[in-house]
Amino acid sequence: MTEAKNVPISMPAPDENGLFRTLNSMGTMTLRPDIFSSAFIEFAPKAPGRCLDIGAAYGVSTIPALAKGAHVVANDIDERHLQILASRITAEHRARLELAPGNFPDEMAFQPGSFGAVLICRVMHFFDGPRINRAAAKVWEWLAPGGKVFVVAETPFIGTARAFFPTYEARLKADSQWPGVVENVSAHDPKRAGSLPGLFHLLDDRVLSRVFASAGFTIERLEYFSRPDYPADIRLDGRESIGMIAVKK
Ligand SMILES: C[S@@+](CC[C@H](N)C(=O)[O-])C[C@H]1O[C@@H](n2cnc3c(N)ncnc32)[C@H](O)[C@@H]1O
Repeated sequence: MTEAKNVPISMPAPDENGLFRTLNSMGTMTLRPDIFSSAFIEFAPKAPGRCLDIGAAYGVSTIPALAKGAHVVANDIDERHLQILASRITAEHRARLELAPGNFPDEMAFQPGSFGAVLICRVMHFFDGPRINRAAAKVWEWLAPGGKVFVVAETPFIGTARAFFPTYEARLKADSQWPGVVENVSAHDPKRAGSLPGLFHLLDDRVLSRVFASAGFTIERLEYFSRPDYPADIRLDGRESIGMIAVKK
């Protein structure tokens, strides 16, 4: 995680789709914030407390949130990503940025009620079900009343999950709690298996609303959205990603 601590590290160049690969084979960072990350960025400066960007990578959302005047705590499991993020901002913004490397949720601790907004963008689809439950519970604890969580994840409706779709549908029929768990990533996306962790968890509206409502949240917005910037083999029918905004009333 912290290899090459004293060696200067730089941000990889974008690929042909404008995606930046992560240094720890945990997928890519997007070039621009999506619609739900943009909602986080808009809310951040008026949130009832500091903001937390989980899996911030090189700062696709942290940097514009800082530019809007927010105080942001950037988290990532790979400290090198956060070093690069910090190297990309101005001294004025650095005063409102805290770096919090670590493994969310199990190895992260913050004061209860100390955040006004939390973004978890394209991270939770690397978690198994129980860990998603623990993530929602921790975010609930960390948010102040009136605070909001913004979640974005990949869904079963991606082109590379076509072969997995019958399994997903069968699990839905069987009322499975976690119908989108893909145990074998190399079967699901052999091209990217080397740049993804072993477990992939495609998330849908039922799972996200159940988990966050059970943790105490009121769901404010929950919808699928398209990813015109994703590579052609991942794009499908406009439901490639799902976003959710939930509030702690
Ligand atoms: C697919 S990238 C997404 C980056 C960015 N949030 C975006 O939307 O483009 C996932 C990022 O989350 C980080 N990550 C993965 N698991 C994590 C965990 N358990 N705790 C904190 N960060 C994590 C990875 O290191 C990586 O930088």
